Amino acid sequence: MSHLRKKTIDDLNFEGKKVLVRVDYNVPLSDGVIEDDHRIRMTLPTIKKILSGGGIPILMSHLGRPKGKFDPSLSLAPVAKRLEELIGKPVTFISDIVGEEAMSIRDHAVKGDIFLLGNLRFNKGEETNDPKFSRQLAGHSDIFINDAFGTSHRTHASTVGVTEFVKVSAMGYLMKRELDILIGLLEEPRRPFIAIIGGKKVSSKIPLLKSLMDKCDRIIVGGAMASTFFGSLGISQGYGFVESGSFDIAREILEKTESVEPYAGKLLLPIDQRVAAELTETCPTKVYPYDQVPLDVEVGDIGPDSIARFKEELDTAMTIIINGPVGVFEIEQFSRGTREILKKIAERVDKGAKGIIGGGDSAAAAAKFGLEDRMTHISTGGGASLKLLEGTTLPAVDALTDR
Ligand code: 3PG
Repeated sequence: MSHLRKKTIDDLNFEGKKVLVRVDYNVPLSDGVIEDDHRIRMTLPTIKKILSGGGIPILMSHLGRPKGKFDPSLSLAPVAKRLEELIGKPVTFISDIVGEEAMSIRDHAVKGDIFLLGNLRFNKGEETNDPKFSRQLAGHSDIFINDAFGTSHRTHASTVGVTEFVKVSAMGYLMKRELDILIGLLEEPRRPFIAIIGGKKVSSKIPLLKSLMDKCDRIIVGGAMASTFFGSLGISQGYGFVESGSFDIAREILEKTESVEPYAGKLLLPIDQRVAAELTETCPTKVYPYDQVPLDVEVGDIGPDSIARFKEELDTAMTIIINGPVGVFEIEQFSRGTREILKKIAERVDKGAKGIIGGGDSAAAAAKFGLEDRMTHISTGGGASLKLLEGTTLPAVDALTDR
């Protein structure tokens, strides 16, 4: 897929037109309070461009997974309020999607208006990519802008189906930025190019590891998934999570990267691990070398020697991507590994390297440690960026109009 052959927001004229815009406002909410508004902020350039071009944005998004049923706790009303604060203009929240109230926008909207429709996933047709629902959505406007990078790996009515019923569909600035940065990373990285892959399951990141194996100069593996790699070598990491069903593939990856002999090859595992009898805020912790972890403990973080070793490796990197934390960063006493690595990435960015966060948990960690502003880019799509980095085509990008 080349996203470069697709129309962008800059190819269109918005004067006097209503513009249907798919955004990804699937933000973390706690009791109706938005905990992180990164995804909302990142859509501001697209909304401002439509407004300054004389267009009327009609925004639509999903929130959570209500599975086609109305759920008041997943209303987008708090998002409309936050958007209003961020953009400094009134935003009209319409609680339906293709009902009478929503469809009347077409006749009554005037220049300067901004609308946000109700949660798309309250309608069953969204996730089934129902042509009837897609056509109804397209009834809002002949122009469709997709700025929802975070949902671009989903074939839904508002991401793919709708493009069949509008005159023209193009990507917004956020979508373009994500694709430019993430595809650029794979195609022309400045070297050394290092990937840090953390998180729980090797199985969910096999295509990613395979894709990065050829492209990166080094892959650093931390988090619970390191236990599966060690397990494939017959080295126990205590009683914590391990995927024995992935031992064969983990072993194959270690062999292909010539890393069966620890610290000899392209893939680096932790040298030592911080463990505890239980992963809690108060349970005493201890550090063991990777091959001496007792059976009655659980790994919570990489140890201090691993932190030093990984930081040294990152010291010369010119391109760094992190996908997944290297420890249980939510618990203070297991947060050091992830924090130190993110701080190192920020330092490298200060020195001219590219530091990219692949979304999801690593983005949450960067926010927690106040390092967001020091990164080159924090992807707004955990699942979508994973797919893209695996080398998979994104259906919502494919569906856009060619130039
Ligand atoms: C996300 O948060 O990754 C996107 O909004 C997609 O959400 P989904 O996984 O529920 O489709």
